[in-house]
Amino acid sequence: MSDKAVLAAAMIRTRRDLPYSVGLVLGSGLGSLAEAVSDAVRIPFSALPGFPASGVSSHKGEVVAGRLDGVPVVVFSGRAHYYERGDAAAMRVPIATLKALGCDTLLLTNAAGSLRTEVGPGEIMLVTDHINFAGANPLIGEPTDDRFVGMTGAYDASLRAGLLGAAEREGIRLTTGVYMWFSGPSFETPAEIRMARTMGADAVGMSTVPEVILGRFCRLRVAAVSTITNFAAGMTGAEISHEETKALAPVGAAKLERVLRRFLRDRGLR
Ligand code: HPA
Repeated sequence: MSDKAVLAAAMIRTRRDLPYSVGLVLGSGLGSLAEAVSDAVRIPFSALPGFPASGVSSHKGEVVAGRLDGVPVVVFSGRAHYYERGDAAAMRVPIATLKALGCDTLLLTNAAGSLRTEVGPGEIMLVTDHINFAGANPLIGEPTDDRFVGMTGAYDASLRAGLLGAAEREGIRLTTGVYMWFSGPSFETPAEIRMARTMGADAVGMSTVPEVILGRFCRLRVAAVSTITNFAAGMTGAEISHEETKALAPVGAAKLERVLRRFLRDRGLR
């Protein structure tokens, strides 16, 4: 465990000391979930050692610690992306901090483009597996043999079952699929999207995969859900824009919020 993660955990505990069990990373347009945290303390990333300075307009970059539906949670509202500085390990200290705080579960969210015509903007997709097409890895440079992280069961089967069950009980369609990580920040070309489909992807995005790897490195149980903000490049003829993805994210975010809160309530984590 890095010294910075231990220190950051101690700083968060000084402000709000709870038996934390779940870490939640909120992607583009998903920040509203952080508003639902009760008894919350808010700490900007810039106040915590080793936490990234995040520059994307729709990402605030703060830690919100408190309870979500009774469950002690640590929410990262905003994340650092590989495309900001070319650093795949930008979220290494934050993810290790979750472990240092006692969390055993990491729930990741993101905005993504859909490759499936029947899964459009406003839908949500449970990630069952990923393709690391960016080719970067947050564990490059890690000197210990712990770097050889197994990724076969990276997306925890029981968390997936729990999330699917929660969605069903809420009456919300939660499709499943493979998330393919492109570095960004430019969007994909239509040819890249045809390739991605051939390779087995259901959605494409610019985040999450480094955090899944880091989460498994920290022996956290990991799940990820995408909110679909657009059809991927070349599927509609329209150009994809950050404004469009930001504008559409809240539609899926509202569904995702209900599914995640139902999941937390029913899981009985206290
Ligand atoms: N591609 C990559 N990342 C994204 C997309 C997309 O189409 N939509 C939202 N994030």
